[in-house]
Amino acid sequence: MFLKIFHPGTLFYLCRVKKLSFDMTNILSGKKGIIFGALDNQSIAWKVAERCVEEGAQIVLTNAPVAMRMGEINSLAEKCKAPVFAADATSLEDLENLFRKSMEHFGGKVDFVLHSIGMSVNVRKGKAYTDLNYEWMQKTFDVSAISFHKMMQTMWKLDAISDWGSVVGLTYIAAQRVFPDYSEMAESKALLESFARSFGYHYGNGKKSAR
Ligand SMILES: NC(=O)c1ccc[n+]([C@@H]2O[C@H](COP(=O)([O-])OP(=O)(O)OC[C@H]3O[C@@H](n4cnc5c(N)ncnc54)[C@H](O)[C@@H]3O)[C@@H](O)[C@H]2O)c1
Repeated sequence: MFLKIFHPGTLFYLCRVKKLSFDMTNILSGKKGIIFGALDNQSIAWKVAERCVEEGAQIVLTNAPVAMRMGEINSLAEKCKAPVFAADATSLEDLENLFRKSMEHFGGKVDFVLHSIGMSVNVRKGKAYTDLNYEWMQKTFDVSAISFHKMMQTMWKLDAISDWGSVVGLTYIAAQRVFPDYSEMAESKALLESFARSFGYHYGNGKKSAR
């Protein structure tokens, strides 16, 4: 399995360059993927879902139950002819249920997963970096970074991802450099990147001999 972690700008750049340079018709034909994080048509995951389906993929959409009530995911689901399975990405029970239902829906393993999830409680509540609430910080890390590990661990235990499958997480340059306004999300992204490296090792060398 390939473990990839992209800055969203890079992801879009790659898509654009590829689209201009190559015939990308149906490059995802026969592929099955789960897309986390489409809330409304401003979400990165929304656009990725549309492009995946345009390229021939079959997808499952998922988001937190509360976000599904606020968002417009059902209209995307209709457009993409995709089922929506609610899952709080911080809940192992929800994740297991999501992967089991998705494999049942696809009739087999999953070829790709997009983790497009992020949220900072301290940023939302306008807390300065020099005055952070640590309970909120833990929630931020759980949603924005630890959910990535939980997702990969759930897939590992269920043997849910195909050989040569792909996992994509979205990071930001603030994981590596100081962007003061990004606040605790910088540490979330650093943690997310570290999980990608470490779990990438296990997927590359582990008992499943996946690439
Ligand atoms: N928009 C940008 O410019 C930008 C830049 C760098 C990185 N990113 C990253 O890209 C990803 C997507 O961001 P976006 O801009 O599309 O924002 P967005 O708010 O549309 O997407 C975030 C998603 O996370 C979901 N989410 C929150 N808590 C959840 C939970 N407990 N379980 C499951 N889902 C949950 C939200 O419902 C939402 O759909 C995030 O990881 C973000 O940090 C975005």
